[in-house]
Amino acid sequence: MEELIPRLGQNIIKLIEVDSTNTYATNLVSKTNPINGTVIRAEYQTKGRGQIGRYWNSAPNLNLLCSVILFPSSILVSDQFMISKVVSIAIAQLLEEYDIEDVKIKWPNDIYVKDRKIAGVLIQNQIQGKSIKNSIIGVGINVNQLIWNIDIPNPTSISKITQKKHDIDNVLNDLLNNLSKYYYMLLYGKHEAIDELYIRSLYLINSLHTFYQGDATFNGAILGVNTNGQLLIRKSDQSISSYSFREISFSRHIL
Ligand code: BTN
Repeated sequence: MEELIPRLGQNIIKLIEVDSTNTYATNLVSKTNPINGTVIRAEYQTKGRGQIGRYWNSAPNLNLLCSVILFPSSILVSDQFMISKVVSIAIAQLLEEYDIEDVKIKWPNDIYVKDRKIAGVLIQNQIQGKSIKNSIIGVGINVNQLIWNIDIPNPTSISKITQKKHDIDNVLNDLLNNLSKYYYMLLYGKHEAIDELYIRSLYLINSLHTFYQGDATFNGAILGVNTNGQLLIRKSDQSISSYSFREISFSRHIL
């Protein structure tokens, strides 16, 4: 079994500073032939990338900033959101292993503790026909940072919650253990088990909230996610609609 499922992270490239580990990984894949599970880790990013063209800010040497290169050729493009689920579950479990409670996955793949963001994920898939040629899994986990710029909305970190400093190498090691486990669950077709774990941790599921869609707002309850990764919401009139990322936003006010 061990040989059939080699652990991810057998090749780790450590960088002091880089523009973005995702950009570095993308270039590496286009110019060389890295092994599956190659990890790029940086102490600091000058142009850390977030979702929808945003930046990911992280103070030097305090947080985990990494990208994992995967070649999930057996995963269909139509199932690509499963990769997002696997990564979110792996991070959520890692935080629980640090005795952090109330860990939630805010759709599609932000990781929250209570109402504060502790980790972000940026996945870039290169598609070939019906399959995924390669997938760059960018993960930023706030580990030891305690102070943030005022413009970063509701951040938190492992250290802030646990009141302890943590070794970032250990956090990466724990992440790779969990990611290996859930990624191979996906390759072995255990979609239902993965769906169950994802839904169990979904932020704000089954309770009434306000959603923002352009200039409009509406009330509804999150029911889950469809196979395309769209969020399913039951509106007040009981109709069920699906939404893509960028189409809607939601949050809960922090008390
Ligand atoms: C988000 O929540 O907007 C996604 C943030 C993803 C940040 C990580 S940090 C390591 C990797 N390299 C990047 O440039 N971005 C991801």
